[in-house]
Amino acid sequence: MSLVRKSLVCFVSLLSIKTIITFAQPDDFVFKVCGQNETYTANSTYRRNLDTTLSILPTTNTGLGFFNHSTGQGINTVNSVALCRGDVEPDLCRSCLNDSIVKLREMCPNQKEAVGYYDHCLLTYSNKTVFEGGLIIVYNVQNASDEDSFYVAVKPLLNDLIYNTSAGGSLQKFATGKTNALNFTTIYGLMQCTPDLSRVQCYTCLDDAINRFFSDIGRRIGGRLLQPKCNFRYDIYRFFNESTQVIPSPPSSPPSSGLTPPVSSPPQGTKKVIFFKQS
Ligand SMILES: *[C@@H]1O[C@H](CO)[C@@H](O)[C@H](O)[C@H]1NC(C)=O
Ligand SMILES: *[C@@H]1O[C@H](CO)[C@@H](O)[C@H](O)[C@H]1NC(C)=O
Ligand SMILES: *[C@@H]1O[C@H](CO)[C@@H](O)[C@H](O)[C@H]1NC(C)=O
Ligand SMILES: *[C@@H]1O[C@H](CO)[C@@H](O)[C@H](O)[C@H]1NC(C)=O
Ligand SMILES: *[C@@H]1O[C@H](CO)[C@@H](O)[C@H](O)[C@H]1NC(C)=O
Ligand SMILES: *[C@@H]1O[C@H](CO)[C@@H](O)[C@H](O)[C@H]1NC(C)=O
Ligand SMILES: *[C@@H]1O[C@H](CO)[C@@H](O)[C@H](O)[C@H]1NC(C)=O
Ligand SMILES: *[C@@H]1O[C@H](CO)[C@@H](O)[C@H](O)[C@H]1NC(C)=O
Ligand SMILES: *[C@@H]1O[C@H](CO)[C@@H](O)[C@H](O)[C@H]1NC(C)=O
Repeated sequence: MSLVRKSLVCFVSLLSIKTIITFAQPDDFVFKVCGQNETYTANSTYRRNLDTTLSILPTTNTGLGFFNHSTGQGINTVNSVALCRGDVEPDLCRSCLNDSIVKLREMCPNQKEAVGYYDHCLLTYSNKTVFEGGLIIVYNVQNASDEDSFYVAVKPLLNDLIYNTSAGGSLQKFATGKTNALNFTTIYGLMQCTPDLSRVQCYTCLDDAINRFFSDIGRRIGGRLLQPKCNFRYDIYRFFNESTQVIPSPPSSPPSSGLTPPVSSPPQGTKKVIFFKQS
């Protein structure tokens, strides 16, 4: 596991400039993007508004892991948004958000805009309504052994999940699922949109993301695409909690203890991260 986490990361821009870097981050950190040119100074109003908004953000949970707060006016407005993965339990959601607030500000010390992606949550802030900070693709470099039959299995799963995710209501747009590939491999998928998106916006965001992934990256055995408004992931191991009830169930329902084992370990393979800067 630590092999995967500490593996080299390949950073490729659209200009194909490659830089090899290594991680020194908490376990569930995936990637961050700091805004390029727009910075604030230590004593600025922007800085104070950012401090304020990030101290209030964790208290704005809509109930299902979506957080949103804005502070200030005009050019000093700071908009912040956080989203926990839909299967993540409230305590883990809180600590992921708390950690990411500290870490993201360390990593992007004076940038007006930033986004940080963790396995269990994302955090972004910007002086614009959305930080168009680029999209992140993480994938397992191993190709499917039979690429066509793998794709024939994974594509309908993802199409189903786009439908189920975008059909979610205004509190949560999240879905998981699994399917069997021809050779008895189980493929697991997960998708999420921020719940403020409309059904059509969510659908379009995910559909574009999936098409982009397969056209740019190919038919790999695992991958994910991350951006502030929507994300998806698929893998050949169960990386999410199937049993977690995100929507509170009636108190009479029996505990589902032991039915589902905890999240399983990833297969071996090198993970690569690609950062596409949007121009
Ligand atoms: C940001 O900085 C880079 C390099 O310093 C420059 O090429 C680019 O034009 C700048 N972008 C904006 C929006 O100012
Ligand atoms: C920030 O403000 C404090 C007190 O108002 C002042 O002492 C300090 O020099 C200022 N720092 C900068 C970088 O302007
Ligand atoms: C965000 O800040 C930059 C300069 O730092 C400015 O050019 C831009 O207009 C600001 N955007 C908004 C929406 O205020
Ligand atoms: C998955 O469930 C286990 C057991 O309930 C829990 O300890 C773990 O934190 C959960 N993982 C996530 C991502 O919520
Ligand atoms: C959030 O993190 C800070 C600094 O790491 C810590 O002092 C604080 O107790 C944490 N708050 C919660 C609610 O976990
Ligand atoms: C089944 O397919 C997966 C994904 O392509 C591959 O990783 C695995 O090695 C295959 N297993 C067998 C037994 O062929
Ligand atoms: C999508 O939702 C339907 C209805 O709840 C469910 O039957 C189906 O299994 C879901 N699809 C996936 C891929 O999980
Ligand atoms: C954030 O919340 C405000 C109300 O508190 C709402 O007007 C705004 O649309 C929300 N933004 C997002 C991105 O959800
Ligand atoms: C996997 O597929 C990609 C794109 O289809 C190709 O560029 C790459 O060489 C393949 N990798 C291996 C190890 O076969």
